[in-house]
Amino acid sequence: MISFLESKQSVMDLSVHSEGNSEIMAEMMEIQCCPICQRKSLLSPFRKSSVNLNLLIKMDPEMDSQLRIGFIGAGNMAFGIAKGIVSSGNTLPANIKVSAPSNRNFDRFQDIGITTTHSNVELVCGSDIVFVAVKPHLVRDVLNETTVHFTDKHIVVSVAAGVTLETLEELLPEGASVIRLIPNLPCIVQEGALLFTRGSCAKPTDGVLLRSLLQHCGLVEEGPESWLDIHTGLSGSGVAFVYLFAEALAEGAVKMGMPSSLAHTIASQTVLGAGRLLRDSGKHPAQLRSEVCTPGGTTIYGLHTLEQGGVRASTISAVESATERARQLGQKSAAKK
Ligand SMILES: NC(=O)c1ccc[n+]([C@@H]2O[C@H](COP(=O)([O-])OP(=O)(O)OC[C@H]3O[C@@H](n4cnc5c(N)ncnc54)[C@H](OP(=O)(O)O)[C@@H]3O)[C@@H](O)[C@H]2O)c1
Repeated sequence: MISFLESKQSVMDLSVHSEGNSEIMAEMMEIQCCPICQRKSLLSPFRKSSVNLNLLIKMDPEMDSQLRIGFIGAGNMAFGIAKGIVSSGNTLPANIKVSAPSNRNFDRFQDIGITTTHSNVELVCGSDIVFVAVKPHLVRDVLNETTVHFTDKHIVVSVAAGVTLETLEELLPEGASVIRLIPNLPCIVQEGALLFTRGSCAKPTDGVLLRSLLQHCGLVEEGPESWLDIHTGLSGSGVAFVYLFAEALAEGAVKMGMPSSLAHTIASQTVLGAGRLLRDSGKHPAQLRSEVCTPGGTTIYGLHTLEQGGVRASTISAVESATERARQLGQKSAAKK
């Protein structure tokens, strides 16, 4: 795998490499020492844009392995993404750390070699990329607690639904590289659908690096922030819509006399097979559907029943309502400023 890493050298790195220039650089920046990691941190205001430290763009298959990745929050989403990153084989599990207040979710991370801590500050100080993976209402507290420990070396990736880039950028030091990412639950089996948007100070290379890291989590796309709420409706919530349909398929078979466990097993395999064929064939769903419809056969009878029940209209409305709800939640989080 080829990955790009834009070097965002810390002030400390710079003082080592630029020797005689370090005093001049120190004068240009506000530098403080982090009590946790003892590294010099650049506090707000961030580095002046005239000081170009982004010296290196490396194309190096080993590069991801040198990155230190942190997850604030040890829940399902953090685990799904961390598992995808580990499964790429490009990042050492020992270079990934998660933080959470309790131990209750730590076992599964530790089982795959990921380290754990109860300190969000320790996590931020020891990471190059920090995923914020707590529930949306906790994002403000978590970032308020850690904000002074972020340097211009960090990339911050929030997966919190509805928490806008504007809110995130306001909570972090000026100039911070922030990315909003909306994943979905199948990340856990490396079949997620992920959409991200870069904040005003996140560079294209930060996006390239994120894509490279997440390539084993599933499909990863970039788009404007206004699409993230739609993606939440389509894919974040869409997973649950598909489960409802799978459950109803199985219940139909149970009604017709099939044992429940076999009906559910076959329903899940049907959803999986249909999904893979849809993705891998690249065909429009209507085309695949018509290929299954023998004139006068079973499928067209069943489809007619589904259409009479309004399944198409209610699915469109479900995506619409979930999108609207994501927008409302985003407005609420912005209003709490
Ligand atoms: N699940 C989805 O399908 C989905 C899809 C898209 C986006 N998201 C977003 O992903 C985020 C996480 O969701 P989730 O489903 O993974 O949640 P979750 O399973 O409930 O996990 C939340 C984690 O946050 C930890 N936590 C709570 N307070 C904390 C603090 N102060 N500092 C550090 N960690 C703290 C919890 O710690 P304990 O382990 O101690 O309880 C837990 O590990 C949410 O913002 C959600 O909007 C989820």
